[in-house]
Amino acid sequence: MSLAPLARIPKAELHLHIEGTLEPELAFALARRNGVTLPYADTDALREAYLFADLQSFLNLYYGLMAVLLTEDDFEALADAYLARAAEQGVRHAEIFFDPQAHMARGVPMGTVVTGLSRALARSEERHGVSTKLIMCFLRDQSAESAMETLEAAKPYLEHIVGVGLDSAEVGNPAAPFREVYEAAAALGLRKVAHAGEEGDPSYVWEALDVLGVERVDHGLRSLEDPELVARLVRDRIPLTLCPLSNVRLRAIDVLEEHPLVKMMDAGLLCTVNSDDPAYFGGYAGDTFHAVHEALALDHERVRELARNSFVASFLDGSAQDEALRARYLAEVEAYPLDDITG
Ligand code: ADE
Ligand code: ZN
Repeated sequence: MSLAPLARIPKAELHLHIEGTLEPELAFALARRNGVTLPYADTDALREAYLFADLQSFLNLYYGLMAVLLTEDDFEALADAYLARAAEQGVRHAEIFFDPQAHMARGVPMGTVVTGLSRALARSEERHGVSTKLIMCFLRDQSAESAMETLEAAKPYLEHIVGVGLDSAEVGNPAAPFREVYEAAAALGLRKVAHAGEEGDPSYVWEALDVLGVERVDHGLRSLEDPELVARLVRDRIPLTLCPLSNVRLRAIDVLEEHPLVKMMDAGLLCTVNSDDPAYFGGYAGDTFHAVHEALALDHERVRELARNSFVASFLDGSAQDEALRARYLAEVEAYPLDDITG
């Protein structure tokens, strides 16, 4: 089914794990190509396993399916398939996470991952009309030493990487041990983001801000529980990269109608909506705009605000060229004819 015009409003995607875009069809094609046996009979059986109780139950499947990603060509194919879909959904700019430790632990070197992804990203503007940046995430359920080794391994590839993030299992894995690796990343000129407040309480968001010094919070879903935290996020204009469909699938909320997005926008928070791991959670960026528009009865001005916020919160501010691109995208958002559109 084609996407409604409203959902195709120009937008940036700021919270997207490239490994979370691995669709079952591509997973099986890569498994065949690489001689990997998957513990599922076919794509239907794999899809049937997409019933998650929480973040950890998703992560178990997500890390397992990565077994099919082995070569530069595999990573290139993965990123190119995502960018083609993103373009159809109105994405004009994508800031893409990847999880190098999950690949290096399987014997796939950093260079294979970054070179493969970068090949697809380098052609993306020309082929798909989508500009891109790459953000390397550390796994918070691994040690800080492992994160530091990962940063070291990334040094030959820093021209391709704009920033660092922190992901994987949140609760019980605080950010504090990662202070030094974030300081080292910043000293290399990298931007800083981190997942926080997805399942964890507001203390995880405070720690991301105060210990890691992040300039954007990934999720921040539980921020409203702490009015002082809200005041801080509003005062410092810290963007939140919310992922509403992910929150439902991973049971952070029961139904989309209960998502606090509107309350968060009303509180003055700089909210964006994103797809997180769209192959697993039932929708890409445009599908997510469509779903929140319907479930939360967002009016057109709110939809435009979310699209505008996505570019405001992006890392398209590092150079005059990036600033010019952002200005062009923001003009596209303002010119997008939402009032002629229903649905
Ligand atoms: N890695 C991939 N998706 C994630 C999520 N939603 N939270 C934490 N780590 C992740
Ligand atoms: Zn995420």
